Amino acid sequence: MKRKIDFLVIGSGSAGLIFALKVAAHGKVIILSKSNMEDTATSYAQGGIAAVTYSPDNYEKHIEDTLKAGAGINDKEIVRITITESTERVKELIEWGTHFDKEESGKYALAREGGHSEFRILHHKDNTGFEIQRALSEKVKAHPNIEVFENYFAIDLITQHHFNEVVNRYRKDIRCFGAYAMNEKTGKVETFLAKVTVIATGGLGNIYQTTTNPLFATGDGIAMAYRAKAHLENLEFVQFHPTSLYNPGEKPSFLITEALRGSGAILKTKKGNVFMKKYHELGSLAPRDIVARAIDNEMKLSGDDFVFLDARHISKNEILNHFPTIYAKCLSIGIDITKDMIPVVPAAHYSCGGVNSDKDGRTTIENLYAVGEVARTGLHGANRLASNSLLESAVFSHRAAMHAIGGFRQIDFRENVPDWDAEGRVMNEEMILITQSKKELQAIMSSYVGIVRSNLRLKRAFDRLEILYKETEDLYDKSILSKDICELRNMINVAYLVIKMAMNRKESVGLHYSIDYPEKKEN
Ligand code: FAD
Ligand code: SIN
Repeated sequence: MKRKIDFLVIGSGSAGLIFALKVAAHGKVIILSKSNMEDTATSYAQGGIAAVTYSPDNYEKHIEDTLKAGAGINDKEIVRITITESTERVKELIEWGTHFDKEESGKYALAREGGHSEFRILHHKDNTGFEIQRALSEKVKAHPNIEVFENYFAIDLITQHHFNEVVNRYRKDIRCFGAYAMNEKTGKVETFLAKVTVIATGGLGNIYQTTTNPLFATGDGIAMAYRAKAHLENLEFVQFHPTSLYNPGEKPSFLITEALRGSGAILKTKKGNVFMKKYHELGSLAPRDIVARAIDNEMKLSGDDFVFLDARHISKNEILNHFPTIYAKCLSIGIDITKDMIPVVPAAHYSCGGVNSDKDGRTTIENLYAVGEVARTGLHGANRLASNSLLESAVFSHRAAMHAIGGFRQIDFRENVPDWDAEGRVMNEEMILITQSKKELQAIMSSYVGIVRSNLRLKRAFDRLEILYKETEDLYDKSILSKDICELRNMINVAYLVIKMAMNRKESVGLHYSIDYPEKKEN
């Protein structure tokens, strides 16, 4: 089946929905979601969205904090654009129906997280993302020009490659004509032709064993863009959140928001020793990369499986008002956080790198935009400042939409696009092959490409991955197409990029720490 649409948006998180809402007044939009519409990392966001609202905060302070967290390798123009447009974008989320917590005075109640010099995080208790997703989803569902296709798995972007033209990364005129996506109910691959295609597919956390990311976060957008020969960067900078709840077997790992540390919770060893001041003057509220590395080190020194986060001195009233989700979750596994310390471990959380996109969300492929976590805008540099991600989605989805509105009428649909070629796929392989390879991949990434890296570990990961790559490509060529085999293939593609980019970075900076190059290179 072939469909023609002005705007094809792959992903129903904040990035995709904001883009869709902005362009929908000008043309027809289809949003694809590989799961249900609300199953997004956006819905999981706890802490909030960073934006400049009241003095004494100002744009310069937020810019400086973002650059400091990113170890200065951020794109300075992008940082300035993002922060100076933050106030406007947050106002818009409020106009669209998002409720952020307020103080009795009527002012927004601002929180503080690691690396922020001011209280500037707008939040809705400890489930801000859920509230943003709710507001955006309601607007999208009510919009006559937007259709949401749930349980549609985008497999590949359509480019000249599908017309048997030679496409390589140096070719300047690669064009995107839409995407192939599998309708999971029928198992059939459908063709979506679009004037403008947007990848808003979120993160890649599931290439690791332990992640806060929802199960769908398998780096599909990154892999699709890579196969289509888009430029990608900075994938070595995978952010590990320092404090996910230690609850073996639970997937995804439940996050304990940094805002709890912003409210005074303190990291302690299993023996009860406060340790963060050894690593940074800001103690438990140091930037995320430093806290995650410190916890990793303490766990290696002690041999313990977790450290503790102590929130017992915070009043029960504050806990119940600001952190009801965390309170309830911990209680459900027998931990009363007003009386007991919380066992926590770092978990893969966010990809700072991704598909290169410019200040208008454009990728290096014509008519293809990338927004949200899948994009590498240059905002985060070597390490994302907490709560700058929802902000990045809001700013660049807006800018991408404005750019796309300006140009989409001049774009023609590509004719004679071939249907998905399913020839040769006969083998219905046992799931065990796929699940076992996925486990192996996650073990490789967690053991060798985690918080602390080395030349030897990366080389080992690379060699092991090559075996998995060959086996999986062979399986993919012969098998009946399924979401599981596609995800595995994507995860292997993405893991390859993370390892390759980590190997190429011969220094320690931000989230990439190598024992062989412990210093940052001077530019
Ligand atoms: P997502 O919200 O993840 O949406 C991705 C969409 O793409 C989904 O709809 C998915 O179905 C779809 N998709 C993916 N692949 C395919 C495919 N092949 N075919 C079709 N559809 C596909 N950031 C902050 O700024 N503040 C916070 O407080 C915060 N807290 C967080 C807490 C947790 C637990 C997590 C995991 C992240 C948190 N983040 C936070 C990060 C932030 O939530 C995400 O970076 C951001 O929401 C990403 O939005 P997105 O729209 O790019 O992607
Ligand atoms: C958190 O609430 O600690 C997560 C914030 C983020 O990832 O930006």
